[in-house]
Amino acid sequence: MKRRFLAVIAAILLLMVITPAHADNGPHGGYAAATDACAGCHRAHTAQGEPLLMAGAAYDLCMTCHGATGSGADTNVVDGVYLQRDNQTEPSDEGVVNRGLKGGGFSYARMDSSWTGTATVAPVTSAHIWNDGAGVVWGGGAIGSGAGDSINLSCISCHDPHGNAGDNNGPTYRILRSTPIGSGSGATSVPDENQKNYTIDDSSGKYFGQSYNSDIFSQLAYWCAECHDRYLAPSGSGGSDSGDPIFAYRHISVGSGCGCHNIHGGPPPTGNPEYAHKPVSCLTCHVAHGSSAVMTGNAGQAPWPDGATSPSGDARSALLRVDNRGTCQLCHDK
Ligand code: HEC
Ligand code: HEC
Ligand code: HEC
Ligand code: HEC
Ligand code: HEC
Ligand code: HEC
Repeated sequence: MKRRFLAVIAAILLLMVITPAHADNGPHGGYAAATDACAGCHRAHTAQGEPLLMAGAAYDLCMTCHGATGSGADTNVVDGVYLQRDNQTEPSDEGVVNRGLKGGGFSYARMDSSWTGTATVAPVTSAHIWNDGAGVVWGGGAIGSGAGDSINLSCISCHDPHGNAGDNNGPTYRILRSTPIGSGSGATSVPDENQKNYTIDDSSGKYFGQSYNSDIFSQLAYWCAECHDRYLAPSGSGGSDSGDPIFAYRHISVGSGCGCHNIHGGPPPTGNPEYAHKPVSCLTCHVAHGSSAVMTGNAGQAPWPDGATSPSGDARSALLRVDNRGTCQLCHDK
């Protein structure tokens, strides 16, 4: 009896050792008593920005490590590429050097948005604002509240520099804040991934059909909708009026679609089987940071939710993963 009890304890201990721990990466959380991390971002007496930041504004600080000429992080979010440039040795599968980052990029991206089989480095045509500039948070707010209000957006609107941003101060996926700044009330804690992987699956730069952990993927839709509330649309929303004058009928953007072949999401039964059994999320069609997709005809002329017709053309690429409406065709195979 006692021996069996010890064996169970031993098995639990072994499990604790071999199960990779969820943890915020880099200097962003999981701090110990004698942590060195604070010194990467704060100065006690010689700070250049508030609150006691080494660089002027929070986003400037992020750029000292994650920028194009940064040296403190392997993820270069400006050029949208994973490099080997910090002085840490990461697990080899944390990212493939010179490959595109999952989020795309803020100035350049390495995508095969034209689906030809080769990734090209191209300037982005649309990106989330990152330098605290103002923009309309499309669909923010309750049914009937207009196109959305203007808010200021920067890296720290979405990410918490100190990590520990989840339920019970636990880690979250990409240190995403459970309540993004400017989103109003509500909270969505996105679970962290076990093994970090910052680059896309495909060496040729195809950004559509990426594999994400399905819990993280679905939860990310609720997370985006902390800001863009009325874009969240469960199965059936294409056939039922939400009551909102602008966002009336909406494509499924979370969870699984209808039909017996489609219990886990993916395209309807008549669609492309390659993408079956994948849940639908905002990140099915969009990247989080910026895209170099081009919009040549009708796609570039779609008015904005407030009726504005400018900017148009490529600047109407709305962070999409494929040129024009390639995202639609890849799934529905019409
Ligand atoms: C990656 C950069 C970074 C690191 C590392 C970092 N901070 Fe911060 N810290 C910031 C930024 C940016 C802000 C302002 C935005 C905010 O409050 O989230 C801030 C705000 C603060 C604040 C004021 C607001 C608040 O949250 O209470 C305190 C206190 C603070 N940091 C303490 C620390 C301590 C202590 C450490 C080390 C354990 C640390 N920071 C590590 C970037 C960092
Ligand atoms: C002192 C350097 C440094 C600064 C400053 C810094 N980071 Fe990081 N960050 C890192 C490192 C190192 C990693 C680990 C991955 C890598 O090498 O790119 C990381 C990882 C991340 C991740 C992924 C976290 C995860 O758990 O997967 C995000 C998101 C991030 N940083 C955002 C930010 C933001 C936003 C700021 C500005 C507030 C910032 N970083 C400032 C060094 C830094
Ligand atoms: C903190 C609030 C906030 C969060 C969270 C947020 N957004 Fe946004 N989003 C904005 C604001 C503000 C704008 C308008 C300014 C801009 O383009 O950055 C915007 C713009 C956009 C655009 C249009 C961009 C363009 O230039 O055409 C898309 C598409 C988008 N968001 C998708 C998403 C997706 C997908 C997510 C989740 C991964 C997300 N957003 C999370 C605030 C947010
Ligand atoms: C509108 C919200 C938003 C803003 C603004 C934003 N991020 Fe992110 N970021 C995300 C999301 C969501 C992901 C996860 C993308 C994925 O896995 O597809 C992410 C991923 C990352 C990663 C992991 C690498 C990657 O590309 O997937 C890093 C590093 C990072 N962000 C840093 C930053 C920095 C630095 C800034 C400011 C220059 C910034 N982010 C601005 C939402 C945002
Ligand atoms: C991930 C694969 C996927 C992608 C990408 C996709 N769809 Fe769909 N689409 C679905 C699923 C699943 C449904 C069934 C939705 C439901 O259960 O309500 C659907 C339903 C529809 C419907 C019928 C709506 C209804 O309920 O009557 C239309 C029309 C449609 N999609 C058009 C589009 C267009 C246009 C695009 C590109 C902007 C697109 N789809 C992209 C998977 C996809
Ligand atoms: C099936 C693909 C698909 C999914 C899923 C999807 N989007 Fe979009 N999104 C688009 C397309 C295509 C556009 C371009 C405008 C259009 O055709 O309506 C767009 C445009 C946008 C815009 C720019 C403003 C506008 O309406 O033109 C925002 C913001 C946005 N999406 C947010 C989201 C958020 C948040 C989610 C998840 C809750 C989401 N999207 C899910 C395809 C998608």
